[in-house]
Amino acid sequence: MALLEVRDLSVRFVRKSEPTVSAVDGVSFDVHPGSTVGLVGESGCGKSVTSLAIMGLLPGRGTEVTGSVNLEGSELLRLSRREFDRRRGKDLGMVFQDPLTSLNPVVPIGLQISEVIERHRGLSRRDASREAAKLLERVGIPDPDRRLKEYSHQLSGGMRQRALIAMALACEPRLLIADEPTTALDVTIQAQILTLLKELVAETGTALIMITHDLGVVAGMCDEVNVLYAGRIVERAQRHELFSQPRHPYTAGLMASVPRLDSPRGQRLAPIEGSVADNIPWEGGCAFSPRCGNALAVCRERAPELETVEQGRLLRCHNPIGAAEMERAHD
Ligand SMILES: Nc1ncnc2c1ncn2[C@@H]1O[C@H](COP(=O)(O)OP(=O)(O)OP(=O)(O)O)[C@@H](O)[C@H]1O
Ligand SMILES: [Mg+2]
Repeated sequence: MALLEVRDLSVRFVRKSEPTVSAVDGVSFDVHPGSTVGLVGESGCGKSVTSLAIMGLLPGRGTEVTGSVNLEGSELLRLSRREFDRRRGKDLGMVFQDPLTSLNPVVPIGLQISEVIERHRGLSRRDASREAAKLLERVGIPDPDRRLKEYSHQLSGGMRQRALIAMALACEPRLLIADEPTTALDVTIQAQILTLLKELVAETGTALIMITHDLGVVAGMCDEVNVLYAGRIVERAQRHELFSQPRHPYTAGLMASVPRLDSPRGQRLAPIEGSVADNIPWEGGCAFSPRCGNALAVCRERAPELETVEQGRLLRCHNPIGAAEMERAHD
């Protein structure tokens, strides 16, 4: 059974004197214990808004959230603010992109972590502090007893991100959401943090939602991948299937714009023309059609539905890659 079931989640920002922004539009996916689900797509496609909606962290005013977010049988979207605060930390953990803004600059790291442990696990201050030291060690921070007394500005970027992960793990959350957890870090530290997250998922059975625009991260981490475009899922597949055969032209475009070690020397990368700012909304046809090399007349008239096209693969496209070959194979 799935730990988290997201169904038809939509988020709209309604502002006076501004057009309504439909940031997330009918998104559904499941996350199972001990597995990692990726949400990928370029800037502005709705990744963070999706995770903030799941965590109950969107601003209340001017935000319309509909659909359902079910965590082990309880509907998160109906929780009061206070109930949400209790579930967060206990069942739900989150690691944000920028650790500096997520840590309190005037409270020592150790106290920030042990407070969470005290509150959620009901330990004494002393035991909580001992637990905090263990956690810092667990995430690879050397000399944890000294580090516990330090403030966030005294830690390097990689250390801060580790401290943040330690804090998210303090209450052994059933679900962890990591929103671009390594984009601010250099490559070697990036690799260490990703390895750490992978170990945690394997050892504790935590379910992980990995949010990234980086297909390299996806390739190394995710079991299942959801590709988002303009607030909607356009392709979903198991990682191996997605990389061996992307079917949505947008997914293929994302992959073609990533450098590969095995491509011939001198071969140019192929950026996807245009940007999300060129988006037409989905009402006027497929939102990707202005940038799509595969677009047909129908793509500019009618938005495609998300359909199961093969075992484990969902696709929202009138003219996917390999459609002709597939039809021939069926004949
Ligand atoms: N509070 C808000 N009010 C109005 N619009 C918002 C708000 N938060 C996000 N948006 C809009 O919602 C859309 C999705 O934003 P989101 O932050 O989810 O993108 P993202 O996929 O996380 O991008 P990035 O990769 O840059 O982090 C964007 O068009 C953004 O401008
Ligand atoms: Mg974001």
